[in-house]
Amino acid sequence: MPTRRAVRYSRSPDTRAAARTGRSGTLSASAAREWRRRWDQQQVHEVRDREARFEAMLDAIEVLVGRRFRALDLGCGTGSTSERILRRFPAARSVAIDYDPVLLRIGRSGLGTLGGRLTWVDADLRTGGWPRRLPVRRFDVAVSTTALHWFSPAQLGELYRRVARLLRPGGWFLNGDRISYPPGARHVRDGARSARRLSRQRNPRPGETWDAWWSAVLDDPRLAAEAELHRRRYPRAHGGTPTLDLDGHLRALRRAGFREIELIWTHWDNRVLAAMR
Ligand SMILES: C[S@@+](CC[C@H](N)C(=O)[O-])C[C@H]1O[C@@H](n2cnc3c(N)ncnc32)[C@H](O)[C@@H]1O
Repeated sequence: MPTRRAVRYSRSPDTRAAARTGRSGTLSASAAREWRRRWDQQQVHEVRDREARFEAMLDAIEVLVGRRFRALDLGCGTGSTSERILRRFPAARSVAIDYDPVLLRIGRSGLGTLGGRLTWVDADLRTGGWPRRLPVRRFDVAVSTTALHWFSPAQLGELYRRVARLLRPGGWFLNGDRISYPPGARHVRDGARSARRLSRQRNPRPGETWDAWWSAVLDDPRLAAEAELHRRRYPRAHGGTPTLDLDGHLRALRRAGFREIELIWTHWDNRVLAAMR
C-alpha cells in the first residue's frame, strides 16, 4: 500500500456551507459510479497489479470454496472486491464492512445491493462490537484487499480472532495486501521499491493519486455530511509502513485458530495470504 502523506483537504465555500447544515446533497447513481471509477483508477495507480491480485483471489475462492458461498469483505471501501466477487459468482452473497462514511455512501449509491446479494455495514473493525452489526454470523470466506495494513499488530490479532469465529470450519480467509519484509531483508525491500518505480516509469498512468482523489471527493458538496464525519472518524492521515511482516501475520493467524496458512500469490511485497479455519 502506498505511503500515506498528510493530506490537506481544501474545502470550497459550498462544502463548508453544506457541512454546517449537516446535510449532503443528492448524489445520483451515475455520479457515485463516476466516483467509484475514479477510486479504482487511483487504486491501480497505487497498487499496480491490483487486477492481477483480484484475479488470483477470485480463482482461489473458486477452487477452495466453490461458486456458491457467503463472503465477508473487510475494509470494503467503495465495494471493489465484493463487486468483482458477485459479478463472477452469481450465486454468491457478500457482506461488505467499512468505517468510512464517504466510501460507504459512494459504494451504496453507485453499486447498490446487486440484486439483494450485497449488504453494506458501517462498523469500525478495530472495535469488539462489529460482529454484532452483521446480518449473519457464519461465512464461507472472508476477504480483504489493501486494508489491513491500517491496523496495529494488537488490533490485527484481535481482528483475526473475530474473523476466525465468523468462518465455518473449513472456510477460508484471503488477505491481499502489501505485507512488509522483516528488518533484515533490506536488499529485497529496496528492490521492491525500485521495481515499483521501474513499473511506473514503464507504464505511466494518467489518473489521480490517492491524495488527489481524496481532496476532490471531500470537496464534493453532495458528500458534505459524510466528509464531515470522515474527518471526525479519521482525524489523522493514516497508514505509513505496514504493521506486521509476513512472519508476524503467520503467527497471528495461527494464534487465531487458522491452519494451512500459505502465500498463494506474490509480487514483491504485494501478496495474498490464504488461511483455512
Ligand atoms: C485502501 S482502502 C481499500 C478499499 C477496498 N478494499 C479496495 O481494495 O478498493 C482501505 C479501506 O480500509 C478501511 N478501513 C480502515 N480502517 C478501518 C476500520 N477500522 N474499520 C473498517 N474499515 C476500515 C478504509 O475505510 C478503506 O475503505
